[in-house]
Amino acid sequence: MIDVEAAQLVLRANDRDGHTVPTDGLYPFQWSWDSAITALGWLQFDEARAWQEAHVMFSGQWDNGMLPHILFHGDAESYFPGPDVWGSKTALPSSAISQPPVWSTAIRRMFETCKDRAIAEPALEQLLPKLIAYHDWWYRERDPDDTGLVCSYHPWESGMDNSPAWDDALARVPEVDWDYQRRDLGHVDSEQRPHKPQYDRYLYLVDFYKQNGFDCDAIHKGCPYRVVDIGIVAILQRAGKDLVDLCRIAGDSEAIPRLESELARTQESIGGLWSKEHRCYLNQDLVAGKPIEELTTATVLPLFGGLADQSKAAYMVDLIDEWLDATTFALASTHPSSKRFESQRYWRGPVWLHINWMIAEGLSDYGYADLAERVKQATQKCVDESGFYEYFDAMSGAGCGGDRFSWTAAVALYWLA
Ligand code: DGY
Repeated sequence: MIDVEAAQLVLRANDRDGHTVPTDGLYPFQWSWDSAITALGWLQFDEARAWQEAHVMFSGQWDNGMLPHILFHGDAESYFPGPDVWGSKTALPSSAISQPPVWSTAIRRMFETCKDRAIAEPALEQLLPKLIAYHDWWYRERDPDDTGLVCSYHPWESGMDNSPAWDDALARVPEVDWDYQRRDLGHVDSEQRPHKPQYDRYLYLVDFYKQNGFDCDAIHKGCPYRVVDIGIVAILQRAGKDLVDLCRIAGDSEAIPRLESELARTQESIGGLWSKEHRCYLNQDLVAGKPIEELTTATVLPLFGGLADQSKAAYMVDLIDEWLDATTFALASTHPSSKRFESQRYWRGPVWLHINWMIAEGLSDYGYADLAERVKQATQKCVDESGFYEYFDAMSGAGCGGDRFSWTAAVALYWLA
C-alpha cells in the first residue's frame, strides 16, 4: 500500500515556489523530465500546482524551441556543473541539452484528468505552441538528415546518464584536463554514482557545445558523441501522438500534417533498430556506425511509443518476462545477464519507477495486462521495502541515490496508489 500522505509530503517538501526539485541537496534545480513526471503526481492532489510546474518549466524554453534539461533557478553554488560551465546566455540560466521529451504526454494526461477546466483550458492554449516548438526542435535540429531517428549528443540527455549502453561511445570522447569539484559525491555514496573518467568526458561535451556557440550544424558535424537513443525516440513518438491529439482537442490543426509526417517517418525507420537476436530494439552509435548490443530498459520502450508491430511486441514480452525472473525488485535498468550490470550503480542495474510505469503502459496498450501487472507489483515492492528513493538496488530493494525523491513519490501517487 502506498502511503499517499507521505508521498504528497515529499512533493510539498521539494516545492521551491512553483518548481519541484528532484530531491533536496543532490539536485537543487528543475530537471525537465523529472518535472513532467512530478506534475502527474501533483495532479492527484493539487491541480493548479501541476499546471504551474509546466508553466515554470516552459518559461525556460530557448528561442529555437529547445527545452533545457536543467533550469537553474537561483544560486547554483551547491551543484556542479552550474550555468557558468554550461555557458548558455539565456535569461533564465540553463543547461544546453534537452532530456527525454515526456512533456506532451504529461500535458495530455493533465488536460484529460483535470477537474478544474477553468485552469486546464487556458493552460493548454498557452502551452500548446511551446510543445509544438519543442517537437519541431527535435526533428529539425536533432535529425537534420531526415533519417526519422533523432539523435542525442550527451548521456545526460538520455536521462539514463551512466547506462552501460553509452560506455563505448563515451570512451571515444576526450577527458577534460582541468580540475573540478564534484558535488554529487557529497550527497550520495560513490558506489552509486558514475566514475571520474565518465565525468571528465561529460564535461568535455559540455565544453564542446559552448566552444561551438551552441550551433546545431557545427555540433552535428563535429560532436565526438552521437547516438540514437531508443529511449528518446520511443518517448518522442508517444509524445508526438499525444501532441497531435492535443492539437485536435484545441482545434489547432496547422502543425498536425507536419507532426504526422515526422511520426510516419520514425515508424518507417525504427525497423532498422530491431534485433531479432536480442528480441528488442538497439541503441545506435552513430560515430562508430553500429548498434549498441546492451540490453537496457530503453530497448523495450518502443512498446510505450507504439512503434512495434504485434509480432515484435511478442518477442519483447518474452524478454521482459525473463528479465523479471532475474531479480525480485524489478525491472532492472540493465539486464542482469550483462557483464556491465551493477545492481546499485546509477543506471547500470537499479530500478527506476517511471521507466517501469512506461513499460507497463506499453504492455497494456499491446494487450499484455497480466505482464503489466507483474511489472507493477515488482515495482511496488521497491517502495514497500525502502520508501521514495531515487532508485532501488535491483537485488536487495535498498534505496539508492537521493531520498524523498519527487518522481518516485509522483509515480507512486499517479500509478501505484
Ligand atoms: C547529474 O548531475 O547527475 C544529472 O543527472 C545531470 O543531469
